[in-house]
Amino acid sequence: MDLAEWDQRHRDAFYSVKEALPYLEGVFVAYNSNIDAIKHLNEEDLAKLLELFEAAEIQEKISAYPREIKEPLDFLARLMISMRDGKAAEVPTYTAETHEWLKGHLGFDYARMGGQAGIIANLLVHLGLKKVVAYVPWLSEEQAGYFAPSESLLHPKVEGGKVFLKHPLEAYKPGIDSKVNWILEYSKDLDVSCGGNTFKVPRDNRLIISSRPKWLRLDMDKEIYEQLDSLGHVDGAILSGYQMIKEEYEDGTTYEDYVAKSVRAIEKLKSLNPELRIHVELTSIQNRVIRKAILEEIVAGHVHSLGLDTVEVANALNVLGHEELSYAVIRKGENGIMALYQGAVQLLEDLALERVHVHCLGFYICALAKGHPLTLKEHRDSLLFASSLAATQALEGKIETLDEAEAGLEVPVSEKGLEDLENFKLYCVGRKLCSPDEFEYGYIYGVKHDAVIVPSKVVSKPRATVGIGDAISAGAFVAMLAKMKQKWAGK
Ligand code: GLC
Repeated sequence: MDLAEWDQRHRDAFYSVKEALPYLEGVFVAYNSNIDAIKHLNEEDLAKLLELFEAAEIQEKISAYPREIKEPLDFLARLMISMRDGKAAEVPTYTAETHEWLKGHLGFDYARMGGQAGIIANLLVHLGLKKVVAYVPWLSEEQAGYFAPSESLLHPKVEGGKVFLKHPLEAYKPGIDSKVNWILEYSKDLDVSCGGNTFKVPRDNRLIISSRPKWLRLDMDKEIYEQLDSLGHVDGAILSGYQMIKEEYEDGTTYEDYVAKSVRAIEKLKSLNPELRIHVELTSIQNRVIRKAILEEIVAGHVHSLGLDTVEVANALNVLGHEELSYAVIRKGENGIMALYQGAVQLLEDLALERVHVHCLGFYICALAKGHPLTLKEHRDSLLFASSLAATQALEGKIETLDEAEAGLEVPVSEKGLEDLENFKLYCVGRKLCSPDEFEYGYIYGVKHDAVIVPSKVVSKPRATVGIGDAISAGAFVAMLAKMKQKWAGK
């Protein structure tokens, strides 16, 4: 695979998507938005934290693998695991004490918009979309202030029983608290030493401590659900935040209630526009019951598109009963990318999706059901557009306009990504999944499905990693929607 050629393809794709974006009328984005308190960890911070506990108790906790932060030691154990593996994770905490403890013992560098839906809504507005309707069930006044100050950004507001679309700053619910998450970012090559254990962090990544206050409910206000047509025309919806659903609530409701409501909202959205496409953005979901319910009951058969990273592919496969494939994805090694490809296809089939977009460091895989209105070239352009956005996000830490996003075009395509794909080529060609020529284009034409595989741009020293996955998934999805609209318009 040729690096210069893929750089050029990125460039062509960017301008071709730029031309298509104005065809979009609107996008709906829900549910999660929060404030991210971001802390970039250095050796000193780490040493200070580690000093607070005995190395043996930390080790013990690491083995116990806490799936919830109940005490500071749980936090430290999950941080060590995340740094050791260089793998992103999001771990919930249900107590405000965690927040207080982190404030007192660590502190943060800065706060910014967090939560997949919040991040994506702002990004789409910055890319110049005409109308982005965000919906956050727990929109506080403070939270509303983190939304882009643009007329294109709207949020439903109930007034006198009727629903109006207004900027979040005019649509928040008075008197409610904000949800603050902690983002602990760390860099590649950081030296970590805990007791006798020492290691070097293998890649830039982060651990998220997600606050889950008691009042948090993944739900849509009744009036808004009933008057969903007040959103006006939308071409697509990007939904996320389902990880917030709990197995049981104090008022006796269970996850089944919230799963059922989520499905009803999706079905209602689809009934408003038969062409509407729905994308669900996954994240790390610690609770296996919830993870399974999200995949089998909310995603399967109801939505069109799914976006996720390698670890999430493994975790999804695991709860869907494909343990062996799941381990092969996690183990990586020589067969890692093959397993990942098979995993993406498995998810496409099991969950009856139109599209599964997996983003990894250095390449993306997008498995596609047969019969999609776009060509593989158009899908490829959407992925490459997303790769350039991700590069800008990593380089600058933000994307304020579509023109600014061009900065990502200067970032080279990942050599490691290309190398991984070379190995994958041998597998694909050997199994007659595609010819060597097709692989050079990034296309796989299967019997039951197709796929597009592209190398991506990687910034060697990213400003921050949080939100990059969201930029990739949302960027590719809206690029795809825009291309579809452009095609239907006969252009
Ligand atoms: C999750 C986290 C949020 C973070 C986002 C980034 O939604 O809860 O804190 O900003 O992921 O993708």
